Amino acid sequence: MRISFANISTSRRGALVVTATADRELSRTGLAVDKSMGGAIGRAMGSGRFSGKKGQVLEFPAPAGLKCNRVLVVGIGEAADVAALAMEAAGGAVVGRLATSGETDAAVAVDAIKGSKMSVAEAAARLAYGARLGGYRFDRYRTRIEDDKKPSLGSVVVMSRDAAGARKAYASLDSVASGVRMTRDLVSEPANVKYAETIAEDARELQSLGVKVEVLGERRMRQMGMGALLGVNQGSEREAKLLVMQWNGAPRQAGRHPVAFVGKGVTFDTGGISIKPSGGMEDMKWDMAGAGAVIGAMRALAARKARANVVGVCGLVENMPSGTAQRPGDVVKSMSGRTIEVINTDAEGRLVLADALWYTQKRFKPRAMVDLATLTGAIVVSLGHVHAGLFSDNDDLANALIAAGKAEGETVWRLPLDDQYDKDIDSDIADVKNVGSGRAAGSITAAQFLKRFANDVPWAHLDIAGMAWSGKAKPTVPKGATGFGVRLLDRLVADNYEVPVTGDTKPSA
Ligand code: BES
Ligand code: MN
Ligand code: ZN
Repeated sequence: MRISFANISTSRRGALVVTATADRELSRTGLAVDKSMGGAIGRAMGSGRFSGKKGQVLEFPAPAGLKCNRVLVVGIGEAADVAALAMEAAGGAVVGRLATSGETDAAVAVDAIKGSKMSVAEAAARLAYGARLGGYRFDRYRTRIEDDKKPSLGSVVVMSRDAAGARKAYASLDSVASGVRMTRDLVSEPANVKYAETIAEDARELQSLGVKVEVLGERRMRQMGMGALLGVNQGSEREAKLLVMQWNGAPRQAGRHPVAFVGKGVTFDTGGISIKPSGGMEDMKWDMAGAGAVIGAMRALAARKARANVVGVCGLVENMPSGTAQRPGDVVKSMSGRTIEVINTDAEGRLVLADALWYTQKRFKPRAMVDLATLTGAIVVSLGHVHAGLFSDNDDLANALIAAGKAEGETVWRLPLDDQYDKDIDSDIADVKNVGSGRAAGSITAAQFLKRFANDVPWAHLDIAGMAWSGKAKPTVPKGATGFGVRLLDRLVADNYEVPVTGDTKPSA
């Protein structure tokens, strides 16, 4: 689907789309279109249930008095509240309605919104962004699609009276959208196709954007003492990889210490010897969504040339049961030197992250370190599919993540850390055990485990187990892999770690 920008015209072919705010207020172009149609929109709005609520769509086929095939009115909500996310939802809703409608072309008019603080350029760019995100499909493995289910929409023209400004504002959003799409692809792919080696290969493509990519194999990891990560992969036929990506976008004088993102990349989680029940196990192909988000975020940052130094580290492994798999009760030695008693081989994500976090802080001395992981089923019980769990011992970092999440519609909810939870993972025979003694506070004891390997750098953990995959379509997030985390991390960098283009080059946080 091609997205472009143009000036407003109502003599378009295909679908002509206008906006309305809540309480049935048509935009300026909407009023003009309504006039050409002899007031049909006004009559339909007066008698029906369309009120201009965010994401609502009203459709008029073959309107008399106009050249187009159909007119759509899309709701953007209360005028005073219309902000970025409402425009994105409108773009997504339009694409959702037209994607397989048979229509090949859509032209959306974005007018100035009275009472909104957003410029038309920004509003138009955000609508385009929503269209791009909402238009995502994963069709790679369909060899036949019925004609009436084939995607038809090939072009979306976003019209405004500041097309140049909109195009400019859209450029960096398009970069972030590319990152989101890469993550969605990686997470959607089955585990027989995307495993450590092939994911690392995909990540190497970021080199063309200027990202430095290193892929460490098992030999290197063994030399560094990563017994926790390697123990998880021990039952697999495939080789584990540690993927290290560096984007150095900050001006030289700005200080080198990067912000670091660390991803759990379990390409398939059977549970290992503590094997999972078969029902729903196929979902565990997305147990690498944390790594997927880190890769997508690196792509987004590099593509939009973010003025910040960022590293992404992903532990890529496969948790399989076999004659070589690690057993419950095994003790492994982590890179930190600390020993871990593996009580449950299904609590493998934290073992992978123990070494990935330790490596990251030791090598890069990051200003802040954020890990993303589909870590616990318990977080889905706590927060469902609305917020990711946030754990941090640093209030500034936690608050920055909460703010970034709100701004991007990828919200996080902070849960506590506490020495009393920490005690629960003391082992009788090793330094730490990989599960708490009961099922109580399962997401928190998992976070306490990670904290022991963050070694006092400002650190936050996002448990995204409930957010990586969605069973329900939203305007900008189709069913399936959500790409959760890419927008959040990109915004975290933009608002806290990026060096402003003009003026002082001191890091802001
Ligand atoms: N990958 C799972 C967590 C998960 C479960 C993600 C369901 C998404 C949906 C993780 O490796 C796991 O198995 N966690 C265990 C931990 C337990 C053994 C302490 C869990 O949550 O049951
Ligand atoms: Mn597991
Ligand atoms: Zn897992």
